[in-house]
Amino acid sequence: MRRIAMSAAITTISVSLVGCGGLGVTGGGDDVSPTKGDDITVGLLLPEKSNPQYERFHHPIIKAKVESLTGGQGRVEYANAEADAAEQARQLQRMINEQVDVILLDPVDAHTIAGGVRKAKEAGIAVIAYDRLAEGPIDAYITFDNELVGGVQGRSLLEALGEDAGISDKIVMMNGSLTDSNAQQFKAGALLALDGKVTIAKSFDTKDWKPQNAEKNMTVAINEIGRNDIKAVYAANDGLAGGVIKALKAAGVTDLPPITGQDAELSAVRRIVTGEQYMSVYKPYRQEAERAAEMAVAKAQGRDIQFDALTRDRVDSSTGKDIPAHLVPVVALTKGNIKDTVITDGMYKLSDICKPQLAADCAAAGLKK
Ligand code: GAL
Repeated sequence: MRRIAMSAAITTISVSLVGCGGLGVTGGGDDVSPTKGDDITVGLLLPEKSNPQYERFHHPIIKAKVESLTGGQGRVEYANAEADAAEQARQLQRMINEQVDVILLDPVDAHTIAGGVRKAKEAGIAVIAYDRLAEGPIDAYITFDNELVGGVQGRSLLEALGEDAGISDKIVMMNGSLTDSNAQQFKAGALLALDGKVTIAKSFDTKDWKPQNAEKNMTVAINEIGRNDIKAVYAANDGLAGGVIKALKAAGVTDLPPITGQDAELSAVRRIVTGEQYMSVYKPYRQEAERAAEMAVAKAQGRDIQFDALTRDRVDSSTGKDIPAHLVPVVALTKGNIKDTVITDGMYKLSDICKPQLAADCAAAGLKK
C-alpha cells in the first residue's frame, strides 16, 4: 500500500512505498450484493480545456468505459469548467440536483469545491477525486504518482545539464497553478532532486496553468537574469513549456536551454523530436481513466469488493485521513522512448508526430515507418 500525506495548499509529502496500487479489476465483478443495476449515471467534472488531455483523452475514455462496463446502459453526464472555479461549483450543484449516482471530480480549486463535495455527500452521492485531489468528504482518489512526476522532471533536468552541472547554474522554475494540489506535489518532487545542485534564480506559480501566463512570467525572468544566463527551465507541464519557449524565442534566444514538461501533448512530442523541449512525462491516461470508470461504476452499483480492490493505496488530505486511492505510475518521455510509449500505447500514430517538415528529425530519432 502506498501512502501520501498532502494538503491542497502546501504539500508536505511522506511516501512509504510498500506495495503497489489496485488490482486490475474489470467489469462484472464478483460482488454478491450489488445495490444497483447497469442503468447508472456518472457525473464527470473536468477543470479546463487549455490542456488538450481532457477533451482528447479523459472524457472520451471514461465515457466509453462506463458504457462498456454497463452493457451500454450507463451514461456519463459531462461538464468542463474552463478554469472557472465558480462555474465548476455550479456544475457540481446541477449534477446533485439531477441526482447522478456518483461523481468523478477533477477540481479547478481543491479548496473552494469542498462545500459542493459536502452537499453531494448529504444528497447520498459518492464523490471520487479524479487526477487532482479535492478537499471535503471524498470517497476515493485516483491520480498519478505526482511526487514521482516532479522527481522525474527534476532528475531529467539535471541529466540534460550533464556532468558539469553546478550550483552556479541558474535555472527558472515555472510551476503550475496554486489551486491545484498536483502542482504543489510536482514542485516538491522536483525540489527534492534540484536542491543544492543548481541555483533556482526565479520561481513562478502559473495562474490556471495558462501558457500565456507562463510566457509573461518567463519574459520577466529573462529580463532579470539575462537571456544567455538561464541554463535550464523546469516547466511543470507541456502547456507551460510552450509559453516558456515563445518568450525565449521572442527575446532572441536561438539555442534553447533544456526545458521540461508533462502530459506528452502532441505539440510537445514534436518539440522533443526537434530538440526544442528536452522531455515530457508520459502519463498513461487510458489507465487512469479506465480505473476511474471502474471505481465509479463499482461505487454506484454498491460493489464494495471490486471498489476496495481498486483503491488499495491511501492518501491523507488537509480534510481527510486514509482516503482510499489508486496511484498510477509515470515515465519520463524523451527522444529515445517515443516509440515505446505514446506510439505503442496508441496515444498517437507515427503520422501524427512526423509531419513532413519533421521528416529529418524523426529519422534521426529512429521514428520511421
Ligand atoms: C494537473 C495535471 C497535469 C497538468 C495540469 C493541467 O493537475 O495533473 O497533467 O497538465 O493539471 O491541467
